[in-house]
Amino acid sequence: MKAIAIRRGDSAPRLLDLPRPDPGPGEALVRTLRVGVDGTDHEVIEGAHGGFPEGEDHLVLGHEAVGVVADPNGTRFSAGDVVVPTVRRPPGGETNEAFERGQADMLPPDQTHERGIDGAHGFMSEYFTSPEQYLVSLPEDLAPLGFLVEPISITEKAVEHAYASRAAFDWEPESAFVLGNGSLGLLTLAMLRDYDRTYCLGRRDRPDPSIDLVERLGATYVDSRETPVPEVPDVHEPMDFVYEATGYARHAVEAVGALAPGGVAALLGVPEPWTFEVDVGSLHRDVVMNNKAVVGTVNSSADHFRAAADTLAGLPDWITDEFQRGVTPVEDFERAFDPDETTIKTAVQFSAR
Ligand code: NAP
Ligand code: BGC
Ligand code: ZN
Repeated sequence: MKAIAIRRGDSAPRLLDLPRPDPGPGEALVRTLRVGVDGTDHEVIEGAHGGFPEGEDHLVLGHEAVGVVADPNGTRFSAGDVVVPTVRRPPGGETNEAFERGQADMLPPDQTHERGIDGAHGFMSEYFTSPEQYLVSLPEDLAPLGFLVEPISITEKAVEHAYASRAAFDWEPESAFVLGNGSLGLLTLAMLRDYDRTYCLGRRDRPDPSIDLVERLGATYVDSRETPVPEVPDVHEPMDFVYEATGYARHAVEAVGALAPGGVAALLGVPEPWTFEVDVGSLHRDVVMNNKAVVGTVNSSADHFRAAADTLAGLPDWITDEFQRGVTPVEDFERAFDPDETTIKTAVQFSAR
């Protein structure tokens, strides 16, 4: 079967011919429909994040998948069911308490593998297998859009944790500032479209499809080259909620300064080490005296996947159409990984429903 993988020493993914996997006890065989690509995939390809399965010379990519059950193999599924796999798996196949509780998303990185990212093959192949407890059902009509469930689930978790940090008082956020106009930032901006006022940070010139989408969503595009984050409270307004999806490490600090009193910043980016000077005294004072919160959040649970499926069902067609423009057939998979590709989201299609 066709599989898209990164090989040790390579700088770009390639198409491999791998044997179709056999489902083990408790596992279903899934025929892959589509698999999305995000910034993390690029970080994995560059060797900046994640790692190969132990003892192997390649990693099958892909963690944003949707497929159809081809062989239920005695699991609760029926052939033809549409499913989305979660990403984390117990290392060595040994389950543990966090996985049993459905809270593997709260584990530190050294206690989990991530399919397609770290230590375990991903879903970018014509078929994949998965234990049934890591497959979430999706309604039939959402099958073409199912590759968006995983990234939406990331923001379901981030928003849940951000709101939980403000649950002790009557927090009524009106403004939201998304840092980053990549696929995660734009999906999040679409999810936050009911806020009174939304803003999205980028560093691109017009015309650009991401800026068009920001504005169609009713948000204000903020170009960080003209208005760096520290100037945003004066030029625009202090923000109730900041969602960082740039992976630009200065934003972890600058997001705090952009917050209104009582606000919360969720940090999602996964930067590499970078040393720079920060006035920690002022930062510390600001967080304390203005009751600000900063929440780091990674990955998501099956519950977040189910919430994401509901969110996806509620997105208007014009938005989901925009996120499907970059779907390419597996034969053209290079386009989905091209750093110069300007569509707002890319995905590889392995088969049709
Ligand atoms: P992406 O496609 O690389 O998007 C990042 C965006 O941020 C790009 O559009 C980039 O602009 C923009 N950006 C970077 N630095 C900027 C700056 N200084 N000013 C303005 N814009 C800037 O990645 P993604 O898939 O959206 O993901 C975003 C980040 O979240 C990545 O670091 C990824 O690893 C991480 N992530 C984390 C989780 C989690 O569970 N925590 C889940 C998914 C992704 P240009 O394109 O113009 O360079
Ligand atoms: C994935 C998450 C994963 C994170 C860190 C993200 O792109 O969507 O599932 O936990 O990267 O590796
Ligand atoms: Zn991802």
